[in-house]
Amino acid sequence: MEPNLKTRYMGLELANPIIVGASKLTASVEGIQKAEAAGAGAVVCASLFEEQIQLEQWKMENDIESLSNVDAEIGGFFPSLEHSGPKEYLHWVKKAKASVKIPVIGSLNAVDEGSWVDYAQMIEDTGVDGLELNFFHTPGDFEKSGAEVESDQLRVIEAVKAKIRIPLAVKLSCCYSNPLHFISRVDQLGVKAFVLFNRLFESDIDTDEIRHTTPLNLSNKGDHKLACRYAGLLFKQVKADVCANNGFMSGRDIIRAIVSGASAVQVVSTLYRHRHDQIELMLAEIRQWMSQQNLSDLNAIRGKLAAVNVNDRFIYKRAQYVDLILRSQELLESPAP
Ligand SMILES: Cc1cc2nc3c(=O)[nH]c(=O)nc-3n(C[C@H](O)[C@H](O)[C@H](O)COP(=O)(O)O)c2cc1C
Repeated sequence: MEPNLKTRYMGLELANPIIVGASKLTASVEGIQKAEAAGAGAVVCASLFEEQIQLEQWKMENDIESLSNVDAEIGGFFPSLEHSGPKEYLHWVKKAKASVKIPVIGSLNAVDEGSWVDYAQMIEDTGVDGLELNFFHTPGDFEKSGAEVESDQLRVIEAVKAKIRIPLAVKLSCCYSNPLHFISRVDQLGVKAFVLFNRLFESDIDTDEIRHTTPLNLSNKGDHKLACRYAGLLFKQVKADVCANNGFMSGRDIIRAIVSGASAVQVVSTLYRHRHDQIELMLAEIRQWMSQQNLSDLNAIRGKLAAVNVNDRFIYKRAQYVDLILRSQELLESPAP
């Protein structure tokens, strides 16, 4: 019998846990259709950014350079923003949603509270199945406290939640002094999912030219570990589902997320590197592993290695760090990976 890869994520039924994350891959009707044809369980549309909203409002088509407060994440996308204001965005998202059967999740990254609420409603009106709020705070203000940043974000979530009916997911960066506390406060507001964690877009430095560069900044093998750790800590501790994100490259990585407690996984970088065929390869790897494990339903193994289920909770504790220090000589002497 075919192994069952179905999962429930933010109240939606997915045929499998692979979601193509918000990116250029999901920035058009064709991109969304391609993700479905490749076998994805769901798709998150590329985000609508505040700067796109402002561009349309201010008609600043020829003055992109002068925009202040520009989010690092969208820096590289500016050339394509000129002709992609919110009207166009809402138009193609509506068309994309109507053209596929898999769940389509909208994505919004605004700045002003008014924009968050207004555009969340407009995205809901396109018919999407859910909405991901892409919180991307770029520290740059020495005066603003962490508590203020958090309360601004909580206010936005509450305001959006009050106005829309579709399920809400919140995509967070890991840069909170205590992510668990913030996640638990957001959970109490009734969001349906956490996407952990957002990828920070960092500039690099060209040492020959002594200037900044903005590489595509794809994730690397092994980057999945942080999301697995948090999925493991949150399993059965929050009501919302967890979607693991950042560094999931293979079927084995996805299994790692599921056994940690995640309901789904978002992938982007691996599709940039290996194209959409990678989705079928990942699914095949999961199926093969399931038959080796004699497992007919992927849900049966969810959270097996979560903190609440691991008797030796050592792995989620500070002791892990101490152990690593004590074993450092042994690690130094072992062959280089
Ligand atoms: C080129 C590119 C564009 C992206 N655009 C968005 C976006 O519009 N909104 C968003 O929330 N995340 C965006 N992301 C982040 C991805 O959705 C995802 O969170 C991140 O790449 C981590 O997953 P990965 O390790 O599989 O790449 C983008 C990533 C890339 C590489």
